[in-house]
Amino acid sequence: MAACADNKLMDKSRELAPKLTEIYRELHQIPELAFEEYKTAEIIERILKSEAIGEIRTGIAGTGITACVGRGAPKVALRADMDALPVTEQTGLPYSSKHPGKMHACGHDVHMTAVLGAGMLLKEYLSEQHGGVKLIFQPAEETPPGGARGMIRQGVINEELEAIVGLHSQPFLPAGSIGVKEGPIMAAADMFTLTIAGQGGHGALPHQTRDAIVVGSHVVQTLQTVVSRMVDPLEPAVISVGSFHAGTKANIIAGQARLEGTVRTLTAETRERMPKLMEQVIKGICDSYQVEYQFSYEWGYPPVVNDTSLVALLRDSAQRLLGEENVYQIPHPSMGGEDFSYYLESVPGVYFYLGVGNEKLARQYPWHHPRFQADEAALPVAAAVLAQVALDVLGGQDE
Ligand code: NI
Repeated sequence: MAACADNKLMDKSRELAPKLTEIYRELHQIPELAFEEYKTAEIIERILKSEAIGEIRTGIAGTGITACVGRGAPKVALRADMDALPVTEQTGLPYSSKHPGKMHACGHDVHMTAVLGAGMLLKEYLSEQHGGVKLIFQPAEETPPGGARGMIRQGVINEELEAIVGLHSQPFLPAGSIGVKEGPIMAAADMFTLTIAGQGGHGALPHQTRDAIVVGSHVVQTLQTVVSRMVDPLEPAVISVGSFHAGTKANIIAGQARLEGTVRTLTAETRERMPKLMEQVIKGICDSYQVEYQFSYEWGYPPVVNDTSLVALLRDSAQRLLGEENVYQIPHPSMGGEDFSYYLESVPGVYFYLGVGNEKLARQYPWHHPRFQADEAALPVAAAVLAQVALDVLGGQDE
């Protein structure tokens, strides 16, 4: 059975709105990059202490923090990421970033505020029988290898945990709503580097050279056939070459080239095939032009795959709080990556989108844009949804 009267929880969360807005604006003004979230961690610790949210552990994997609400070993975890991006804010907001060249352009300030708000609600609503809820504030989501693995290595996933919940701001959904999806919701995000070693020479005498630019161009084009001709068309995959550096001057043929790119997939099977398929193509081209190559493939974040029964529980919890019309079914996963996936290797979880958009205020700039903005009306909604899901997971155990 549901653990509390739902609208009371939403009302209570709305009462917290001014406090949540204040926290959000304070965090928004001091964005810090991955693994440098010191001021951010100080603010979180200060609020946890002033709200009497207990068992605070700081300095985990650098700047990470956990705190426990309720009695007993935590059975549910709520996770927020803490880092900002090297983006110069152009929102013109009175509470814009005070750190030049840095901005919370991905809404991680919203996530931290939401988890803090959920902690404030749970402090009041968790009963003796429920068991505990762990709040996780994790550094460095944006920069692989990310902060999640360090947090896990330092034991933040205790044995008793039965579910972990994460969220991401979504400016294309209206504030007051959330988006849910079963199965994969974010992709595996891997990286690769290819260096080509040919032989340079005079631009007028190509026959005396082995042109790394011609070979590299061929590789860029042919890598696209890995996706279009070697992967099942019903299976999403992306190979993007994001950087190609070679050459110095118009009349000199380049002997060296360096290419870097990213590979996105949604399933372990396709993901595992990619490096081999790519190298097959690269080797074939390099051999035929008689150049040497070095190919390195770096495994990044695994895909985020939601647990089906937790999605059903989340949908039900959120519908009761927000109304059915405000719980959207997300049709497709994003090919973006998220290190929330590492937690899912040891505990089932659900990751959802929090609507932060507002068309009237033209708040529709995408993630990582210098004008990215979140409608603050989303803050109490996020806190209430997180708290309700935790209560429903814990309450459901009595049935
Ligand atoms: Ni993000």
